[in-house]
Amino acid sequence: MAYYRIQAAVLVAAFLLPALVESTVRHYKFSVVLKNATRLCATKPIVVVNGKFPGPTLYAREDDTVILRVVNHVQYNITIHWHGIKQLRTGWSDGPAYITQCPIQPGQSYIYNFTITGQRGTLLWHAHITWLRATVHGAIVILPKKGVPYPFPKPDKEEVIIFGEWWKADVETVINQAMQSGLPPNISDSHTINGHPGPFPNCSSQGYSLHVETGKTYLLRIINAAVNDELFFKIAGHNLTIVEVDATYVKPFSIDTVFIAPGQTTNALLTASHDTGKFLIAISPFMDSVVAVDNLTATGILRYKGTHAFFPTSLTTLPPLNATPVTNSFILSLKSLNSIQYPAKVPLTVDHSLFFTIGVGINPCSTCVNGSKAVGNMNNVSFVMPTIAMLQAHYFNISGVFTDDFPGNPPIPFNYTGTTPKNMQTNNGTKVYRLAYNDTVQVVLQGTAFLAPESHPIHLHGFNFFAIGRGVGNFDPVNDPKKFNLVDPVERNTLSVPTDGWAAIRFIANNPGVWFLHCHLEVHTTWGLKMAFLVDNGKNPNETLIQPPSDLPMC
Ligand code: C2O
Repeated sequence: MAYYRIQAAVLVAAFLLPALVESTVRHYKFSVVLKNATRLCATKPIVVVNGKFPGPTLYAREDDTVILRVVNHVQYNITIHWHGIKQLRTGWSDGPAYITQCPIQPGQSYIYNFTITGQRGTLLWHAHITWLRATVHGAIVILPKKGVPYPFPKPDKEEVIIFGEWWKADVETVINQAMQSGLPPNISDSHTINGHPGPFPNCSSQGYSLHVETGKTYLLRIINAAVNDELFFKIAGHNLTIVEVDATYVKPFSIDTVFIAPGQTTNALLTASHDTGKFLIAISPFMDSVVAVDNLTATGILRYKGTHAFFPTSLTTLPPLNATPVTNSFILSLKSLNSIQYPAKVPLTVDHSLFFTIGVGINPCSTCVNGSKAVGNMNNVSFVMPTIAMLQAHYFNISGVFTDDFPGNPPIPFNYTGTTPKNMQTNNGTKVYRLAYNDTVQVVLQGTAFLAPESHPIHLHGFNFFAIGRGVGNFDPVNDPKKFNLVDPVERNTLSVPTDGWAAIRFIANNPGVWFLHCHLEVHTTWGLKMAFLVDNGKNPNETLIQPPSDLPMC
C-alpha cells in the first residue's frame, strides 16, 4: 500500500515538475583577483574575475534568479554591473559605484541577487568603478525559457566573441594621470578579440581562432567591452545575419560589417558556406571626428575543419576610420522583430518630453597643464560623483547627496552643432531628473560641437528603450517627430548618438530606483557625461523598490 502511495506521489511530482523547473536559481561566485598578463605585454598584473581574461560567462535562462557573490581580493574598490539586465525593483544589484551602491572594499564581499524578466539574448557584465572594466568584464548569456525556441533557425553551435581594448600601462594610472593634467588620457595600445590582440602588436603568441565545419551554422554572441572605442567587425568571405541586439530580437538582416559601440551586444548567425579555408576575423575602430583613437586592427582566424595550418588566410578590408555610412547602414537596418510573441510595445504618448545636449567641453583648471581641463556634460551639467550611493540616500531619505533639479532642457538654446557660443562654461552638480512610476519618457539626445563633435554611445540603466529616430544636425522639433518610427523601432539599452547629430528614445519608467544614463566611452563618463533618473515607487507592493540587502556595502 505504502509502495503505491509513493508511486502516486512520484506521478504527481512528475506532472508538477515542468512548472517547477521552469525557473531556476543560479549560484555564482566571482573572485576579483590579480593576474599576470604577459601575453598582452602588460607591465603590471591586471585585475580580473576568477583568474580569467575575459572573465567567466554568466549563463542563465529567462525567469531565472541569479545569486552571485563577488569577493574582492585586490587593493582596489570594486563593483560589478550587469549591463542591460533590467533589475526590476532590485536596483541594489545594478552595480554602478556611488549610484546604486557603495563599492565593495578590499577584503569584502557582496551578493548580487536579481531575477531576469522578459529578456533573452546576450548582454555583458563589467566593473562599474573608475576604469577597472578594461579587464573586469565578461559575457551574460540568457537562454530562452525551457522549451521556447529562438525565432530563427536553431544554430549548431554558439560562440561568445568579446572585444576589448588594451593598455600596456596600468589603466588606473592612465586615467588618474589624465585627470590630474586635464588632458585626454593616452589611447590604448591595441584592441583584443577574446583577450587576444592578434599578431600585429607583437605581444600575442597566437590570435583568437574560431573553428567551423562546412554547412553548419554558428550563433556568434558579439560583445563590445572596449573602454573608449566604437568598433567595426568583419569576417572575410562571410556575411552575417543579425538576429538580436542588446538581448532583444530584431528582424533578421544580412550584412558584411557589424558596427558595435561599447556596451552593445549583437547576435549574428554565421553559416560556414565554404568547403575549406582560413578567413581573417578583424575589428577596427570608428571615429568620424578629429579625436585621436587607437587605430589598430585586432585580428583572429576563422578556420574550417581539415584546413592545414599553413593554408593562406583570405583577407578582408575593414571600413576606413571615418566610415560613417557603414555605421548608418548597420544602424538603419535594425528593427524590432515585432512579432505576436515579441511585440514592440512603444509608448505612443509621452508624459515627459526631454531634450538633453551631450558633449565634451573645456573648463578652467588652475592645477592643470594648460590651465584648463576637458569636461563632459549633459544640458551643461557635469555630473559630480557623490560620496555615498544615491539609491541609499533616496531610500533612507539622506539629504544633501543629490538634488532633483536636473534640467529637462538646455539652459539656453543655441546652434548645438555649429560654433559654440562664448561663455559656455559647464556647471557641476549631482542632479537627478525625477519620474513617477509608469511615466512615459521621450529623450532627444542632441550631440554638440563644444570641443569636438563625436559619436556618443549612450547607455540607460534599469530599462530598455526604443530608438525611435536619429538624424544629423540639430533636432527639428516640428518636422523630425513626424518621421519617428513608433511601429517597430529597435529596442536596446545603448545607442550611438551620431556625430553632430541627434537620437530620440522612448521608455516607460516602470522600475523604481535610481538609474544612471551615461556615455559608455569611459573617458567621457569620467569627465562627467552622465546623469541619473530617479523613479519613485508605484502604489502597489510589486511596484516598489525592495528593501536593501543586509550585506549592502557602506561607504
Ligand atoms: Cu555598461 Cu553604466 O554601464
